Amino acid sequence: MSNQLLKGKKGIIFGALNDQSIAWKTAEKCYEAGAEIVLTNAPVALRMGEINKLAEQCGNAPVIGCDVTSSDDIKNLLEKSIEHFGGKIDFILHSVGMSLNVRKGNHYTDLNYDWEHKTLDISAMSLHRVCQAAYQMDAINDWGSIVALTYIAAQRIFPDYNEMADAKSLLESIARSFGYHYGVRNKVRINTISQSPTMTTAGSGVKGFGGFLGYADKMSPLGNASAEDCANYCVSLFSDLTRFVTMQNLFHDGGFSSTGVTQAIIDQMEK
Ligand SMILES: NC(=O)c1ccc[n+]([C@@H]2O[C@H](COP(=O)([O-])OP(=O)(O)OC[C@H]3O[C@@H](n4cnc5c(N)ncnc54)[C@H](O)[C@@H]3O)[C@@H](O)[C@H]2O)c1
Repeated sequence: MSNQLLKGKKGIIFGALNDQSIAWKTAEKCYEAGAEIVLTNAPVALRMGEINKLAEQCGNAPVIGCDVTSSDDIKNLLEKSIEHFGGKIDFILHSVGMSLNVRKGNHYTDLNYDWEHKTLDISAMSLHRVCQAAYQMDAINDWGSIVALTYIAAQRIFPDYNEMADAKSLLESIARSFGYHYGVRNKVRINTISQSPTMTTAGSGVKGFGGFLGYADKMSPLGNASAEDCANYCVSLFSDLTRFVTMQNLFHDGGFSSTGVTQAIIDQMEK
């Protein structure tokens, strides 16, 4: 039975590529919790067609294409969403990330800077673009909520996470900085959720991801948090139960970020 925590709320979900995506699970949970949603992804991702299944499942939610590197696309998305909802938006999930250098297998010490620009634009500056467009259009209701997804490589080195670590540091900084301005003007809160490694298309693009995932699981007292649990956490952050949480990087990682070592890792080392 759903708790209807988001009854009456309206939100935009970026980044549902397939049913493994964190955004996919979040869309399902938001709908279950009573929200009305608009789904969006890059036009190239929409061509895969998967998202239409999700839209159907979520009360025939509109699907609107938007490349997050285009300010015009973002403006169009906000305008069409407001038109569809018949009013302003209450929440936005930014669940977007892509690194060309990771994709092409370039080492961190041998980056292609044109690609790095693209990575930073898609994975980090896009949060600023979304916030700025919404702020300038006054598109979000007072006490609204914006959440973006990040990873602990923003604080600590995970070598194969490569340039995405730098993108995530920028993303978290933008959440803090814009969180200040949007908070002062409209009480809109902006947070990042730092999620456990999760088996998705973006996740599995990281070299050695299986080992990475297993290690994190053993290093977390509660084990790795699933995409579905991350979706539940997003619902709580979109709800009115967390109205004074803003400008935070919130770890959703089963305790990984506070753990020095676990018995499971010691046992493995002593084998
Ligand atoms: N999977 C993990 O281990 C993990 C851990 C922590 C944080 N995250 C973060 O979670 C978020 C969602 O990733 P996911 O793991 O669900 O993978 P995913 O591959 O399902 O989602 C990534 C999404 O980004 C979209 N995207 C890429 N370029 C875009 C563009 N130019 N415009 C609009 N959308 C674009 C893709 O189409 C895709 O839907 C990302 O920010 C990722 O870094 C993932």
